[in-house]
This record gives sequence, structure tokens and C-alpha cells, in this order.
Amino acid sequence: MTAQSRSGQNVSIGAHYAVHLPAPDDFAFWRERARGLIQCDVPPDRVSWIEPGGTGDLFAEGPSRSDKRLPMPPADAPPVRASQRFLTIARSAALHTDPARFGLLYRVLWRLQRSPRLMEDKADPEVRRLEDLAKSVRRDAHKMHAFVRFREVAEQDGTPHFVAWFEPDHHIVRAEAAFFMRRFANMRWSILTPRGSVHWDGEVMREGPPARREDAPGGDPVENLWRSYYASIFNPARLKVGAMLSEMPKKYWKNLPEADLIPALIAGAQAREAAMVRAGEREERARPETLADVAQGAAACRDCPIADCGTRAVAGEGPERAALMIVGEQPGDQEDTVGRVFVGPAGQLLDQHLTRAGIDRTGAYVTNAVKHFKFTWKGKHRLHQSPQAKEIDTCRWWLDAERALVKPRLVLALGASAARGILGRTVSVSRARGAPIMLDDGAELWVTVHPSYLLRLAGEAQTEQAALFAADLAMVRERLSELGG
Ligand code: URA
Repeated sequence: MTAQSRSGQNVSIGAHYAVHLPAPDDFAFWRERARGLIQCDVPPDRVSWIEPGGTGDLFAEGPSRSDKRLPMPPADAPPVRASQRFLTIARSAALHTDPARFGLLYRVLWRLQRSPRLMEDKADPEVRRLEDLAKSVRRDAHKMHAFVRFREVAEQDGTPHFVAWFEPDHHIVRAEAAFFMRRFANMRWSILTPRGSVHWDGEVMREGPPARREDAPGGDPVENLWRSYYASIFNPARLKVGAMLSEMPKKYWKNLPEADLIPALIAGAQAREAAMVRAGEREERARPETLADVAQGAAACRDCPIADCGTRAVAGEGPERAALMIVGEQPGDQEDTVGRVFVGPAGQLLDQHLTRAGIDRTGAYVTNAVKHFKFTWKGKHRLHQSPQAKEIDTCRWWLDAERALVKPRLVLALGASAARGILGRTVSVSRARGAPIMLDDGAELWVTVHPSYLLRLAGEAQTEQAALFAADLAMVRERLSELGG
């Protein structure tokens, strides 16, 4: 027997539908099926969500049908409502190991169609449960970031490969692989877990089967790699004994090579703690869609301590689409005061050189690797301090977003900090200058010195270096014409 649904669909009365998820973390699959079922008015108690090897959730009753026979929503079915907040929470909650999670997600989505503000109801038990699931998944992800330890193994061809063992509580491995890819983009590594493994060869991510602890090498982790990694993800919650235990259960307390780093890290703990919370938010933050979003986002960003130094974040400026992007290090004293890039002495020297080389600055997008001014006080003066690698890396989020929006064909990096901002790794300017480095989006990166370097020189050295700088800009000019810029 069938009946007409709200959307005009014929739905079998009393039918039960079984949706078999291809993987326990396949949120996209759940979302697509859930949308279709809602559009066909199939109530939550008529659906079983079954993950591989599972039996479905307890809320759905009766015999199950195959998902091949799920009703098809009509073309004119009303759109399914799901607030951004629901989607953000749902994406995390879907990775929980609770077998009832997909059913819960469906029930909340179902109710959202009638109560669009449901997610704001903090007292609602289903909303609360969803938030709890999402929170515990985020915590698991955080632990994975913090406690994965790589050990070096030599491959047959002699190249190092780093292998880590980790036991997540939830289905987070696939979702978190991107985090490690960004952190260790230039290494070959594998993370083995009982829920599955991920392998990065420097170019491609592959998934592999679940692993056993014995599959991971023993011995000490690669000390330096781990120590620098640890310093960047240091979790100040460990400083509080109570929090330490909940944050870092006993099973993670083994052979911590970083223990001797802790005193130094405590000094910056508060700033890091704030940064860490924001970094968590960042993962949930959408990529900026316009350059104005970048400017606003960078202004509000407190992901690294420099943000609290200067007066303001100094946004990049120039056409939305420019063939040439010029990247400096960070705003200086005058840029920070005025709020515009390259307006101080280094900017004036840059302008003179660009004009001489025949490069129109107004046609280029000009920005910096780091958006805030880092300095120390000397008397009444603010003295420039170079940003640290991790500060540049933190600010890459904004520079990457600018590149993705402006899509320059050629990027000119002024100095080592700028080059690191673009590449995510350190290069020697003297070795890199004079030839392009191909970027992953097909653009060319040209590296030269920063104009403030020329300002610090005098006499012959200055004349010599200025000539080399001019020659670099002349090459950039020529290459831009070849690229049609
Ligand atoms: N130096 C830079 O790298 N950028 C500026 O905007 C000014 C000085």
C-alpha cells in the first residue's frame, strides 16, 4: 500500500528502509541519502543506518529493505534545510563510533525541517547528544595531532620513510590525514591504526587496511622531527594535572622525547593555548571567498602571538585578478601605522626598482607572508623582528587564500620569509634566485632578496646587490610578458 508524501512522492506505508553506508566515516554518503529520504518524507523510525559490519541503530524498527529500493525524490521536491551549524557538528559527529549516530543525525535533520532553529536549543537532548559526539571526535582528532610519533625506517631505495602508530577512539584517520599532509608535505610517511592506515609519498595520499601495533617499527621516534613538531602543537592543558589526565590518558604517556622542552614551552603556554583553540576553530572555518574575507579574517586572526603585537593586520592590495603577485615578509613600522603594504622605506625602494624594470606596481597584487608587524621596543622605537618559521607557516592560511583568489601566473617572493610563505619550506635565496620554481597551481615562483636587505648595505656591496636585484626584476618582467601578463 502506498500514500502520497508531502512532496507528492509515493511512499510505501509502514516500509522500513535500510541504508548501507560504504564506510563508517562516509558523511557525504549519509548526507546524500538523508536528503533524499527527507524529500520523500520518510520518518526517522522507518530508516536503519547500517555501517560496514554493523546491524543498524536501535531506533529503527521492523525488517529492513535494501537501499537499492530507496524512494526517489521528485524533481520538484522542496530543498532540505540544514543550518551551517548543524552541518559543522554533523560532520564531526558522523565520525564517532556510536552505532546510533547516523540515526540521530537523521532525526535531528528531520526535526530541523520543522524547527529551523532547533540547533540553538541547548536544552534539547538530541542536540546535546550530537554536540557531545562532535566534541569527543574533535578531542580525538586533537590527540592524534598531538601524539602521533613518527619513526624513521629506510626504504629499499634509501629514502627515509616515517611510520607512526596511533589508536584513535573514533573514525578520524581519513579525516585527519590532511592535517599531517600539510604538516609533513615533503616527507614520505605512513600512519598505521587499527581502523585503517594512510600513506603519503610526498604527492599522493593512499589508504590502506587496518594495521597491528607490531606492523609499526619500535625504537625512538625521529627526535628532531618530533621535537619541532611537538613544540608547534604543545598542549598547555597538560600543565594542569587534572586536565593532563583527561587530555593525555595513560596510554599516551610513553617515552616522551619532548619532556625536556616543557619548561621552555610553559613560558608561551597561554598564547599557545589561545592559538590552539583558534586553530581548532580554523579547521572548521570556511576558506575565504573574497579578498575582503581575507582582510577581515586576518584582522580577527589570533592564531599566532604576532597578532597581538602591532596595531592592525595589513591586508594585501591590488587587482582581484593580477598576473603578478609580489610577496614581502611582513608589514613594517610605517605599514602598521598606515595600514598599507610597502609604503615605508623598503616599499619606496621597491617602487623605484619596479618602475625601472618596467613593472607596474598598480597592476600587481602586493602582500606579505605575515600580516602583522612583529617588533620589539627599543626606547620609543619599534624595531622590526623577523617572524619565525612557525609564524610564517601559521599565516600561510591567508597567503594561500590570497593566491587561490588572485590566481597569479607569477609570484615574486622578496626574501626568505616570503619564499617560505609560498612554499611552506625554507629555501636559500642565493640558490633559488634566477630561475623559476613551479608551484602546484602551475604558477611560477621567482625568488629574490628583500629590498630592506639593500637598505642595510652600503658602498660597493649595495651597488652590486642593487644591480643583481634589478637583474632579477628584469627577468621577472620578461617572463611576465611571455606568460601574457
Ligand atoms: N617589508 C615587507 O616585507 N612588507 C611591507 O609591507 C613593508 C616592509
